[in-house]
Amino acid sequence: MVKICCIGAGYVGGPTMAVIALKCPEIQVAVVDISVPRISAWNSDTLPIYEPGLDEVVKKCRGKNLLFSSDVEKYVSEADIVFVSVNTPTKTQGLGAGKAADLTYWESAARMIADVSKSNKIVVEKSTVPVKTAEAIEKILTHNSKGINFQILSNPEFLAEGTAIQDLFEPDRVLIGGRETPEGQKAIKALRDVYAHWVPVDRIICTNLWSAELLKLAANAFLAQRISSVNAMSALCEATGADVSQVSHAVGKDTRIGPKFLNASVGFGGSCFQKDILNLVYICECNGLPEVANYWKQVIKVNDYQKTRLVNRIVSSMFNTVSGKKIAILGFAFKKDTGDTRETPAIDVCKGLLGDKAMLSIYDPQVSEEQIQRDLSMNKFDWDHPVHLQPTSPSSMKQVSVVWDAYAATKDAHGICILTEWDEFKTLDYQKIYDNMQKPAFVFDGRNIVDVAKLREIGFIVYSIGKPLDEWLKDMPAVA
Ligand code: NAD
Ligand code: UGA
Repeated sequence: MVKICCIGAGYVGGPTMAVIALKCPEIQVAVVDISVPRISAWNSDTLPIYEPGLDEVVKKCRGKNLLFSSDVEKYVSEADIVFVSVNTPTKTQGLGAGKAADLTYWESAARMIADVSKSNKIVVEKSTVPVKTAEAIEKILTHNSKGINFQILSNPEFLAEGTAIQDLFEPDRVLIGGRETPEGQKAIKALRDVYAHWVPVDRIICTNLWSAELLKLAANAFLAQRISSVNAMSALCEATGADVSQVSHAVGKDTRIGPKFLNASVGFGGSCFQKDILNLVYICECNGLPEVANYWKQVIKVNDYQKTRLVNRIVSSMFNTVSGKKIAILGFAFKKDTGDTRETPAIDVCKGLLGDKAMLSIYDPQVSEEQIQRDLSMNKFDWDHPVHLQPTSPSSMKQVSVVWDAYAATKDAHGICILTEWDEFKTLDYQKIYDNMQKPAFVFDGRNIVDVAKLREIGFIVYSIGKPLDEWLKDMPAVA
């Protein structure tokens, strides 16, 4: 019987392994992590991450061919295939700080694999890593191998949060990169056989190692670039009276462009887009390609500009100050259907408003008060480390309150700022909300989900990204 072990029980390791266990009943799957609370949560009724459909998959397999454990060494030593799905944060210190990937967790996982292995293994890079990481990992493993054969494969993950289970069930493609040697090809076949249990073989793409590693960074860079392109257009739409939804709809009708990923927003968030583009930029710089590096840097610059633009719109619309004013923040997660707040644009927008001394009342259906307080007090890039290495008791901010209902958040508020596109925000009773707010009452929609005309009829002053401006906002500077 094939035994798989995955190091890292996070957003990728947990769901991916649960789906492998479901689709391959004859394979034993162990998911291990150094974080004991995380493993306990995977073994409980309340899983550590919120992902539609995940509970059902885990419940079907847990205790049969799927287990979660903090006994990392035991399950690694027993496995035939070891996936490594640990954090690969952006470096905060030293060479490449602020750009390069920090491979500390990856390296320690590789050294541990070498230490505990007693049989040949296929080691699979599941984490997103810089090109040529496999070479470094290979060196660590072979220098400590005691005669054991390790084959390294790159099998980056393309799932998106909120749709992880659906993406894993029906992936657009599965990518497997390996060495072009007979042993490398044999390892590729072994992993392809696992996925072939449910993924059509024409969707399993096999490449060399370096293509697979680079392809993952390229895919995320292309996706993020589309968002920055439409967001750049949104600023121009506001300046000209065009409507970004109409523009992106018609642009996306061109089959060469396609309709997906063209929603203007407050900016992209999530644990990977920024991190992976910074990583790509660093790799370009290291390879003497400054023009290419600058091209991709611009994607992040536009994303930062979009967040700053929203903060400035809010402040300038509200008589140039939000000091002491209550602003309701609806949504804190980086997108709907997830409780994940890593690199959420809400952090930058809230910090911008707090910098102008606003009082924030925040509501998100899936994000806890502790998480929000932690995010608003944490340094940039510190979030992407195992939970037990993060500050445990963040100092709570007096200007911030977290409530469990959109109506409580908006009561007596001067303005509402929508930062996540949760469906429930589309169907709120905005008349009731308006009645309970200070006047003039403002809505700043960073996700283009409200019915602008209806809200204006109620009496709100409405700003919606990339839409024709309210009379109130015309002639006010978008960026101070
Ligand atoms: P995560 O932080 O949710 O999970 C990583 C886990 O690894 C943590 O639980 C941590 O405790 C554990 N860990 C770290 N070092 C360890 C070690 N030495 N031994 C055992 N456990 C260890 O991260 P994630 O979101 O699952 O991302 C993992 C990787 O996958 C990253 O490289 C990321 O870029 C990539 N990725 C993420 C997504 C996503 O949607 N989140 C999608 C595709 C790829
Ligand atoms: C993204 C990719 O979509 C996955 O393929 C990839 O595996 C993953 O990154 C990763 O490597 O971590 P994810 O970040 O989970 O997935 O979610 P997305 O749906 O891509 O959304 C990212 C951000 O872009 C969100 O903040 C979202 O609100 C924003 N977005 C997305 C827009 O602003 N407009 C759009 O049209 C689409």
